[in-house]
Amino acid sequence: MFHARIAIALLAGLLLQASAALSAEQPTVLITGASRGIGLALTQQYAERGWNVIATARDPAGAPALQAIAKDHRNVVLEPLDVTSHAQIDALAAKYRGRPIDVLLNNAGISGGDDMGTFGHLDYAVYDRVHATNVLGPLKMAEAFLPNVAASQQKKIINISSTEGSLSLVKGRGGSYFYRSSKAALNMVMRSLAIDLRPQGITVGLVSPGFVKDDFTRGIDLPIMITPQQSAAAVIKVIDGYDLAKSGTFLRHTGEEAPW
Ligand SMILES: NC(=O)c1ccc[n+]([C@@H]2O[C@H](COP(=O)([O-])OP(=O)(O)OC[C@H]3O[C@@H](n4cnc5c(N)ncnc54)[C@H](OP(=O)(O)O)[C@@H]3O)[C@@H](O)[C@H]2O)c1
Repeated sequence: MFHARIAIALLAGLLLQASAALSAEQPTVLITGASRGIGLALTQQYAERGWNVIATARDPAGAPALQAIAKDHRNVVLEPLDVTSHAQIDALAAKYRGRPIDVLLNNAGISGGDDMGTFGHLDYAVYDRVHATNVLGPLKMAEAFLPNVAASQQKKIINISSTEGSLSLVKGRGGSYFYRSSKAALNMVMRSLAIDLRPQGITVGLVSPGFVKDDFTRGIDLPIMITPQQSAAAVIKVIDGYDLAKSGTFLRHTGEEAPW
């Protein structure tokens, strides 16, 4: 009984801490993979706009840049979340039960390394990890946080995809089996979900963030590449423009439709 009371008091304290910085007047975004790259830049820019930001990362304590944003912005709450752990996703959704989330932003993603040229030596455990992160993770997030999105004003589930997942754009170069197929699968999952959630007024979007110079593309240096900050600014503009009429579309960071 005594232990149960302590547990309830601790839980209440944690809930208070989680909601202390979040205002009821501002919209809320939940971002996965906020530790670095595009997710970090999205966190920074939503924070500067004054939105409530629930910035999730596998190890927030080990992400100094993310810690610095949270230190400077009371409207940013950090939460540990590995999107391959459905138990963690369910626990976080339980913690935020009843809080409207305007934009659920599935950003976390991995390439699985460059498997090009390794056909004949493919590591299927890596393939499982890429799909668990890039496909199952966003779908499970959508399932777990659906009540939060449905209770919000903007009602958007936005997924960072890639033109590498476009069947019609893949020409000339083979390989990248794991990554390309994971983003093609993400596109199909979310296009289907868009149909199912339309009656609830929920918009489901897929955004390609451009060719971004960060850890994901380490070692590549091409003139067409943009910074994570430029990508995040463009992606936020696209998210702002998403509405039910556009639900189920696949858009580039420029706002144009990307081919499937
Ligand atoms: N960079 C590009 O040119 C480009 C182009 C098209 C699409 N994209 C997509 O954009 C998204 C963001 O990529 P990025 O460029 O920012 O890559 P990045 O710099 O490599 O960052 C990836 C982020 O995902 C997180 N992450 C990985 N596995 C995770 C998991 N299991 N649970 C939670 N978080 C996890 C990482 O967290 P840790 O720090 O814990 O590893 C990190 O925060 C991805 O979906 C990627 O496919 C990127």
